[in-house]
Amino acid sequence: MPEFRHRRRPESRLCLQLAPAPSTWPTAAKQAGRGCPCKLVSVEPVFSFRFRNGQAGGTGTATSDSDGNRVERTFAMDALEAILTRRSIRRYTSDHVSDETVLEILGAAMAAPTGANEPWDFVVVRDRTVLQAVSGFHPHAEMLKQAAVAVVVCGDPTRGRLEGRWPLDCAACTQNILIAANAMGLGACWVGIYPVEERIQGLRRLLGMPDRVVPLCMVSLGLPAEKKGPSNRFKPERVHNERW
Ligand SMILES: Cc1cc2nc3c(=O)[nH]c(=O)nc-3n(C[C@H](O)[C@H](O)[C@H](O)COP(=O)(O)O)c2cc1C
Repeated sequence: MPEFRHRRRPESRLCLQLAPAPSTWPTAAKQAGRGCPCKLVSVEPVFSFRFRNGQAGGTGTATSDSDGNRVERTFAMDALEAILTRRSIRRYTSDHVSDETVLEILGAAMAAPTGANEPWDFVVVRDRTVLQAVSGFHPHAEMLKQAAVAVVVCGDPTRGRLEGRWPLDCAACTQNILIAANAMGLGACWVGIYPVEERIQGLRRLLGMPDRVVPLCMVSLGLPAEKKGPSNRFKPERVHNERW
């Protein structure tokens, strides 16, 4: 029987573009301890790039700031690498993360599978006083004080008919956010809210959410100011073949 083997791309590293704000592009690459391995070939609306050895690197969508003059980043990390290198990053530089980037990440969030009729809504929070206030009712939310932006992943249990599904859907969205952020060179961390009642109430009050909406979690986002290796939690003894 033919054996399936996953082939990794030889140099699936990614990078950011420039023009005309070069200070933004090398940051993530530097933080990740590697130089920019690719060279921009073309820009709008889809650009392709090559690695320094001339090999084709891939394509990505050009994203600009609202002033229209900064192409921010693209990535060529493959899906498995983005999953396996994801870590909770809790320290960030003071760099801005654009609205376009956040929307791209939310596109990944909403691409998650849904068993509860798309129960999610997202609140994008940049207000520093709000990000700081979360620590008033959450003991493990200090990283929000440094984050460029945070996304609150909310569920509306009234949207789906199937009881108990909304947290599953919202958790799938959250995982997509974390993986997409990593693939784009951003650091991110899941900040748990649900099912701790004090945190749910605290966030509802802070953001003016209706009572029917339940915040599942927040995800802090920013350019990473810390570097972590892969978690390597694979345990072969947890894998059962055919029967338990
Ligand atoms: C449901 C859930 C809730 C979490 N809540 C928090 C939190 O409130 N604060 C925090 O710093 N990390 C939180 N984390 C991140 C975990 O601490 C982190 O995933 C774990 O330590 C493993 O590390 P890694 O993500 O770097 O692999 C949460 C993760 C999950 C899945």
